[in-house]
Amino acid sequence: MINIDKHNTIVSNQFNPRADAYLKSAVHANGEDLEQMVRLVGRRPDAVALDMGCGGGHATFRLAPLVKNVMAYDLSEAMLAVVADESSRRGLGNVVTKLGSAESLSCPSASFDIVVSRYSVHHW
Ligand SMILES: C[S@@+](CC[C@H](N)C(=O)[O-])C[C@H]1O[C@@H](n2cnc3c(N)ncnc32)[C@H](O)[C@@H]1O
Repeated sequence: MINIDKHNTIVSNQFNPRADAYLKSAVHANGEDLEQMVRLVGRRPDAVALDMGCGGGHATFRLAPLVKNVMAYDLSEAMLAVVADESSRRGLGNVVTKLGSAESLSCPSASFDIVVSRYSVHHW
């Protein structure tokens, strides 16, 4: 039986020291998948989006100009701090960060119109 709290602590400890590196990583900051996402979403000024396992926030940063709000959600506090700082730096005032695990998303059903996740699903 997996102890989910222990697992989440291990993952969080793994990612916290790497938050700045993920923000600056060219591999994570670029990619045809991000371009496809932008094309698929289009302009959705009334939509609320969730970026699950946001890491350094590269999907969040691309979604924010397209939608009403983006919730950047992650287990790692350090990742969320980086996303909040970088969102401010980019003038993206519609990004909110939220700490938690994918397995226990504390939002009511149907809270989101768009859900994306990138390089994270394999951890859950
Ligand atoms: C490689 S990074 C994500 C990269 C990012 N999505 C991007 O586009 O650049 C993987 C992220 O998944 C998060 N993560 C791992 N397990 C998680 C879980 N159970 N719930 C929420 N986030 C989780 C980690 O904290 C880490 O920030």
